[in-house]
Amino acid sequence: MSSNNHFQKVKFEKLSQNRKERRRDYSCGDKFIQLKKIPSWPAFYKENSYSVSTAAHPQSLVDKFKDECRYQVDAEINEKVSVFYGDITKLEIDAIVNAANNSLLGGGGVDGAIHRAAGPFLLNECQTLNGCDTGDAKITGGYDLPARYVIHTVGPIGEKPSMLEQCYRRSMQVALENNIKTIAFPCISTGVYGYPNEKAVQLVLPVVRTMLEAHKDKFERVIFCLFLDIDKKLYNRYLPIIYPLN
Ligand code: APR
Repeated sequence: MSSNNHFQKVKFEKLSQNRKERRRDYSCGDKFIQLKKIPSWPAFYKENSYSVSTAAHPQSLVDKFKDECRYQVDAEINEKVSVFYGDITKLEIDAIVNAANNSLLGGGGVDGAIHRAAGPFLLNECQTLNGCDTGDAKITGGYDLPARYVIHTVGPIGEKPSMLEQCYRRSMQVALENNIKTIAFPCISTGVYGYPNEKAVQLVLPVVRTMLEAHKDKFERVIFCLFLDIDKKLYNRYLPIIYPLN
């Protein structure tokens, strides 16, 4: 087997290991974060209600958005959603989503962090995928990541709502096709690709809710992995509107 295809053997081995065996090789050592340590949205709200309800942000945009949409309380859906503040490469879940580029050959930002943490076999596998169209998503092994899989999606450059919506839909579709039940998203396109953060959260939260409503029994948890303060403030403003708790 050529070194380039060696990734296939490693991928198969890793996917057939149990959790205890996989934990021996995580690039983050014991600094991984287990799903049970990530509260669902209702528990998170209870623990942080002082920050969630008063997160400072231009209220006018939030009020306008609130008036335009009326979401019902759905306790089951609320238990399937989480926010996590930190590094997506530490999450010990089924799949993390990578905000990649069309080449799938790595880059900066979260793409660079995921490739560094996964190790060289991730690139070897990506090299066999012939790139990825904007709005599409492709799956690889997770290698030395605590996540078993990486779902690579390519966001739009700039504010292109239908393309960004497609990234989230396709990533969750690929998760369904691979029986993946726990998945984490970074804030796709809002970094280097410059998608306005507030426009992104106003689109992302409803799209994920629609997908969860359509496939309730297939997902255990969808985690919004937030890295920047602006996104933490925005998600805290909009989560109570799109995933109302009472
Ligand atoms: N964990 C979670 N989120 C992260 C991490 C990390 N380790 N590192 C960065 N982020 C956040 C950024 O702060 C931003 O909020 O991910 C979000 C997406 O930003 P980018 O990584 O810049 O992704 P994007 O805007 O989609 O641009 C993609 O950048 O890195 C290149 O190869 C990539 O060309 C592609 C482009």
